[in-house]
Amino acid sequence: MDASEFREFGKAAVDFVADYLENIRDHEVLPSVEPGYLVELLPKQMPETPQSWREVLSDIDRVIKPGITHWQSPHMHAYYPTSTSYPSIVGEMLASGFSVVGFSWICSPACTELEVVVMDWLAKFLKLPTQFLHETEGPGGGIIQGSASEAVLVAVLAAREQAVRRESQLHPELSEGDIRGKLVAYSSDQSNSCIEKAGVLAAMPIRLLPAGEDLVLRGEALKEAIEQDVEAGLIPVICIATLGTTGTCAYDDIESLASICEAHHVWLHVDAAYAGAAFALEECSQLRRGLDRVDSLNFNLHKFMLVNFDCSAMWLRDSNKVVDSFNVDRIYLKHKYEGQTQIPDFRHWQIPLGRRFRALKVWITFRTMGAEGLRAHVRKHIDLAKQFEDMVKSDTRFELVAPRALGLVCFRAKGDNEITAQLLQRLMERKKIYMVKAEHRNRLFLRFAICGMDPKPADIKYAWSEIESQLTEITTPQLITRKAADVTELSQHLSGLQLTNETLER
Ligand SMILES: Cc1ncc(COP(=O)(O)O)c(C=O)c1O
Repeated sequence: MDASEFREFGKAAVDFVADYLENIRDHEVLPSVEPGYLVELLPKQMPETPQSWREVLSDIDRVIKPGITHWQSPHMHAYYPTSTSYPSIVGEMLASGFSVVGFSWICSPACTELEVVVMDWLAKFLKLPTQFLHETEGPGGGIIQGSASEAVLVAVLAAREQAVRRESQLHPELSEGDIRGKLVAYSSDQSNSCIEKAGVLAAMPIRLLPAGEDLVLRGEALKEAIEQDVEAGLIPVICIATLGTTGTCAYDDIESLASICEAHHVWLHVDAAYAGAAFALEECSQLRRGLDRVDSLNFNLHKFMLVNFDCSAMWLRDSNKVVDSFNVDRIYLKHKYEGQTQIPDFRHWQIPLGRRFRALKVWITFRTMGAEGLRAHVRKHIDLAKQFEDMVKSDTRFELVAPRALGLVCFRAKGDNEITAQLLQRLMERKKIYMVKAEHRNRLFLRFAICGMDPKPADIKYAWSEIESQLTEITTPQLITRKAADVTELSQHLSGLQLTNETLER
């Protein structure tokens, strides 16, 4: 393909995407294909000779689109949102155009320096403590990782290596193997699966501590666990707290956790993958409490900050702790300016060597939306969730299982879990909206998350009408059966009475 054909293909692809996103409500949010549908449709080998891009684009419409789950549909309410926006899509395209691999400054100075700039812009926008800014004198700073899972793994691995070094100095009599065998980490039983996975990958057990009735992890639970472990000769390494848990968007108590971590030299990481966006809002300022005491935190711009996947911001209070832990060098990776400036070589702050130019889409999105536009977007999600919450509250057949938090409402049909399970099954079969279930203390519930590129109040009404009408469908046969049973019982009762009267008459 030459440049002129690329121009044609690229323009047609932009039109394709714009048509798709503009008309996204025309699609059922869930696809109607069975496993293996695409494998059946496509040839077993790549074509031997080049095919025309027109043919390829038409196949995207014909065979790929039917197998898409429409995450950008406003009828998507499952998981948490994965955002996108037109500027961000253009940013991805331009980054692909440059196709740089910016693992060190020299590999593409603009890639590294733009990341430094946007991470400081973002930290200020979110009103994070200044220790996380690159521009602040000191070892703090931010980096863009691919996902929250990667950010958590980086924190867990760095904390582990720091603990091994510290303990080796404190206890020269212990071998490194002995020390590694005693390491232990902590999180809440409400934390995302990626945290447990980070423990598996780091070969370090993560104790999932029971959150309170309100699903919040507090310092007391951590204190008790750490004291037990120290008593048993173990070495506490890191606690991963969550602001905005995946199940119900609960917020762990960072201040009380920080006090315990400080007392025991335990690294405190905060996973704010979803809720981090709300740090930007004055009305949510309480969420930022205690962040000046954490060692690291992560927040997914690809959740609801209008930047498309993948884009996960991570800040470190002392980046040297990560750099020291991961610094593996080769002569071909060295360059003249290495370590001489404040500008980092981000390869030391992450797991892979290569890195994408993600900062470009962030910069373009921030500039074209402005701080005002980003805040308005977060507030819109909150307002739409409030609209849905009011609908749930106004129908006595439903109940909330946790307070609405940001753009998430957790609710269930009153009564047995079976009713909620049936409701979800029905909704999934109809494919008009998509939600997922969760469970807490044996109570099944549904999570209604505001998602999609441009959700509107009418979409929330649409979802509610689908949910409540399907509950009516499920419960009506039960009502009829119950009424029929009542009638039978009554008539038996009456015939009994009649018998008695007859007997009396006789
Ligand atoms: C609180 C929380 N942490 C971590 C993750 C994992 O995010 P990622 O897919 O970016 O690794 C999620 C995903 O929804 C989440 O809700």
